[in-house]
Amino acid sequence: MRMSTTIILDCDPGIDDALAIAFAAGHPELEIAGITSVAGNVELAKTTANALAVASFVGVPRPAREAADGHAIDFIIERTAAAPGEITLVATGPLTNIALALRREPRLPLWVRDFVIMGGSAGRGNVNHAAEYNIWADPEAASIVFGAGWTVRMIGLDVTLRARATAAVQERMREFGALGAELLLPALGQYADSHTTGAPAVHDVCAVVSVAAPSVFTYTPALVQVETTGRLTSGMTVTDFSPSISPNALVATDIDVDRFWKLVLETYESLAARMG
Ligand code: RIB
Ligand code: CA
Repeated sequence: MRMSTTIILDCDPGIDDALAIAFAAGHPELEIAGITSVAGNVELAKTTANALAVASFVGVPRPAREAADGHAIDFIIERTAAAPGEITLVATGPLTNIALALRREPRLPLWVRDFVIMGGSAGRGNVNHAAEYNIWADPEAASIVFGAGWTVRMIGLDVTLRARATAAVQERMREFGALGAELLLPALGQYADSHTTGAPAVHDVCAVVSVAAPSVFTYTPALVQVETTGRLTSGMTVTDFSPSISPNALVATDIDVDRFWKLVLETYESLAARMG
């Protein structure tokens, strides 16, 4: 019997967030308890509208035209409190909602099964030399989140920059009917770097893949602290891999790119078949 993992996806669609929603919707062992939205790539009203549109397009969860009443923070707290140890929280945008949820309910780390983010980097940044976008956008929130007493599974730029939708990957996506033609390929086409490299990185998909198939990545324990005040380094995830430190994170340090794309494309293929 297949064991499924229930997730709440806090996201800011966003191009790769949309691809991450589609992956979560298509994977047979992932169950989406809810999608919450946060300001990031665009303002909150737009990330919410985009999340609704994508969820509705791929048919999950219960296609809705409007966001549910209430705040994302309350939803996250209520759902995890109701099923302690069962829900994996995945964040693919700035960590604003997660930090606010922790402020309101410090027991959140006790209730989640796992906490996974796309964000940060043990090496270079992408907004600037030091910082990755999701951390840079709200470094105070990220600092609260890394200091909350749980183990953050950090899927950062060290690995996500290697998960690139190459020409061959995009060619496969052309076989996926409306899913490919109306969501995956137009989304990839919007990436600024798709015009330069032709092979954009699908950062946020990596975080959801790490829930569905953790062994696609290699993880190294580390102490991650977020720079909140540096003039040149605000949003930097200062990552210490020394064996003597007390870790607060499992940082993805390697990715099996072939396995990653095999899984992602198979999942999209089965979602496309379901969508008809
Ligand atoms: O740095 C990559 C992250 O920021 C992703 O979550 C993506 O959506 C982008 O805006
Ligand atoms: Ca995102």
